[in-house]
Amino acid sequence: TNIVVAFGGESVEHEISILSAMQVMAALDKEKYEIIPLYIAKDGRMYSDEMLMDLNLYQDLDEIQATFSEVSLIRREDRNYVIPSHHHFFRKEIEFDMVFPVLHGTYGEDGSFQGYCKTLRIPFIGSDVCGAAIGQDKVIMKQLLQEEGIPITPWFHVSLYQKLDEAFFAKAKRLGYPLIIKPANLGSSVGIQIARDDTQLHKALIEAFQYDIQVVVEKLLTHVKEINCSVLGDEEHVRCSELEEVRKMDDILSYQDKYIQDGGSKGMASASRILPALMDDETRDEIQRYAALTFEILKARGVARIDFLIDEDTQDIYVNEINTIPGSLSYYLWEASDLPFSSLCDELIELSRK
Ligand code: DAL
Ligand code: MG
Repeated sequence: TNIVVAFGGESVEHEISILSAMQVMAALDKEKYEIIPLYIAKDGRMYSDEMLMDLNLYQDLDEIQATFSEVSLIRREDRNYVIPSHHHFFRKEIEFDMVFPVLHGTYGEDGSFQGYCKTLRIPFIGSDVCGAAIGQDKVIMKQLLQEEGIPITPWFHVSLYQKLDEAFFAKAKRLGYPLIIKPANLGSSVGIQIARDDTQLHKALIEAFQYDIQVVVEKLLTHVKEINCSVLGDEEHVRCSELEEVRKMDDILSYQDKYIQDGGSKGMASASRILPALMDDETRDEIQRYAALTFEILKARGVARIDFLIDEDTQDIYVNEINTIPGSLSYYLWEASDLPFSSLCDELIELSRK
């Protein structure tokens, strides 16, 4: 089986995606699969070459463009998919069977790339267009979870066209400061801010509107634990991983905490984790139950990571968000659940064939 591993991408999580993809390519069983790297540069152009399996994280775009020629994915009539490749002296076509998107955030995890594959009838791993799009949109995600009675922190959403008048600030006050402000569509904590009064809220909204025309305003829990759980499966069957507790350094788990601090050795690295998270069995079961429900309600497929908050004062559990293509594919959570990374990849490939 020839597998195209797609990574990089146009989002702010470009570098994280490179790390995740390097890990996936290392984990894939070379006896079963032929790996074809597909690197998507920050300008959206695609390149495919064996040398891209060993990409330098901060590779210069001009250098890549000078070294490799741009490619695209093509479907042949006989259900054959190919990447036409222009080598120095000859042209050849690389045949492949499916695409493995290891892309995070905008254009990669939000249904765009999935839509591109789907239009070409190319099989791909992970969530379908709709599931990926829902998972990336905090407004739609929260509305669906709320409707199904999944606990989420008190919130409301604001659109760019809404008036920030007295009535608006009264609504914010009812929710109660401090508040946390997030663009509806961005990952990795970009554009996320905390507001402690009306003036800060106003400023935070203006900043957040630079990233999206919709912004969510949530009540900030000040004394919380962050717990993550990965879910693997599809609409017929799901399985939950062990839980991890993520220890954060700041008010918000920032981009810095998440990825940069320890040099990114684990993809979604740094901020230290306790794995398995320490808690009683009842809480653990409840979190896993909510994780599975969230996965189903949001139409996820493949492997996802559901992030929870636990209010340490009340012990209340809240679903915070879903990542339909989690950093490192959450392989460390599955290894802690007795599923080696290469077997996780095998299962993902099998699921996409169903
Ligand atoms: N969005 C990143 C990669 C994560 O939370 O895993
Ligand atoms: Mg994300």
